[in-house]
Amino acid sequence: MQGNHMRYTLGIDVGTSGTKTLLTDETGRVVSEELREYKMSQPRNGWAEQDPNDWWVATADTISSVLLKSGVSPDDISGIGLSGQMHGLVMLSDAGNVIRPAILWCDGRTGRECREITDIIGRERLISISGNPALAGFTAGKILWVRKNEPENYEKCKKIMLPKDYVRYKLTGEFATDAGDASGTNLLDIKTRDWSRSILNDLQIDRSLLPPVLESCQIAGRINRQASERTGLREGTPVVAGSGDNMASAVGTGVVKAGVAFTTIGTSGVVYAQSDNPRIDSRGRVHTFCSAVSGEYALMGCTLSAGQSLKWFKNEFCAEESAWAQNNGLGIYKVLDEIAEKVPVGAGGVIFLPYLMGERSPVLDEESRGVFFGISAVHTKAHLLRSVMEGVAFSQRACFEILCENGIAPKEMLICGGGGTSHLWRQMLADNYCMPVRTLKNNQGGAIGAAIMAAVGTGIFETLEDACGTFLEYGEQQYPDAVAAAKYEKIYSIYDMLYPELSKAFHAMAELRLEGIV
Ligand code: XUL
Repeated sequence: MQGNHMRYTLGIDVGTSGTKTLLTDETGRVVSEELREYKMSQPRNGWAEQDPNDWWVATADTISSVLLKSGVSPDDISGIGLSGQMHGLVMLSDAGNVIRPAILWCDGRTGRECREITDIIGRERLISISGNPALAGFTAGKILWVRKNEPENYEKCKKIMLPKDYVRYKLTGEFATDAGDASGTNLLDIKTRDWSRSILNDLQIDRSLLPPVLESCQIAGRINRQASERTGLREGTPVVAGSGDNMASAVGTGVVKAGVAFTTIGTSGVVYAQSDNPRIDSRGRVHTFCSAVSGEYALMGCTLSAGQSLKWFKNEFCAEESAWAQNNGLGIYKVLDEIAEKVPVGAGGVIFLPYLMGERSPVLDEESRGVFFGISAVHTKAHLLRSVMEGVAFSQRACFEILCENGIAPKEMLICGGGGTSHLWRQMLADNYCMPVRTLKNNQGGAIGAAIMAAVGTGIFETLEDACGTFLEYGEQQYPDAVAAAKYEKIYSIYDMLYPELSKAFHAMAELRLEGIV
């Protein structure tokens, strides 16, 4: 840090449930923040789309409002960082218009295209180049899906981009991405950190459709006149490349060197560890991505419906509790926490499989679906509620075990995301990981990570590690409870049996969906 004049950076996280924008000063203090929510549409069972314009409106509105509330002069904002939901396919026409709704990370329509990609490229070869097997949810399968099912849209498409990169395009007019987000497309060579010529050739995807790949802290563009008029930002303010929300959350939790890890419970649930070399699970059960630290990597597992499972349960079954919470001026999730806390460990024998949108880690199956196992007439809504939270914790544990098999050995687990604010959920994680968990005083995940990347990219700090040291403050550790951990050990072994037992039935049901019977 240098000079007397306080400098600020803006972090924007284009999430699935909403966009959060925050303004921090160079000491890491969050001066103001704002969230705008939007919907996800599910045109069919297992599909998930959003209108990129919703992201842009939410971004522009939150920026204006953050600026207004803070009273900070736009001239004092040295840079802007972007974080965003990964893998989503945004297609633009020659004139820069969105051609169709974005197909999101949790959309499972591309099973067939993934099998095609695997046949063309070969599973081993694809994993060794891109770090991952072909996965429904990743971008390549979606590109093939549109090419096959909507040839007129594919024909019109002149640019392909990821969600936060669309927001960058609106802010700066520039077309760019970063190695972390790009590694979630199945098209990047993770070792060279650039698009793989051979994968693109084999899949016949034109390189010119894809943006240049930068490192997260590099400046990718500057606020243009239209964006300046719409948001109040100063024209010319630098926008750094930023990264996918998980890489950005890694920065936002200080997971920027090998040996540290975090779990986030947002819409998805992610267990993420930093690594200085590309560790690849040979069975593809967890993902290998480039990280926001230049030249480094991440190994992470993704539960597609983590916070999403609890949100679904709340929306569908907890109208009464929601009304009560509102009448009493309480947050609904706080109320649900208290209800779930009264149910003992194990939810009375109910186990929930959180596969509401299919699953990716460590179960690679877009056709799997959610399950309540073991329901009896003695059970109440409270048992089901607790089982939803435990099921998500079991799924995170399953991912963590694969990370450990691949040589990851953190001493504690940092926790962030909306679900991470729940003391109960954190305890479930501590008891299942059998290790202490810790939150941050600034539980801002991707948005603060993006602001930190902007601070490094515009020279306020030299390295991400330095910036994290100033920006982040850690809370108390929460320890595993030995009795609960021993119980979970036994219950988890049953959870672990369920997917393999049900896999055939999931696929038979998928056939019925295909035939239009259900
Ligand atoms: C990661 C993933 C999700 C999204 C959520 O692979 O698909 O965590 O990034 O925003």
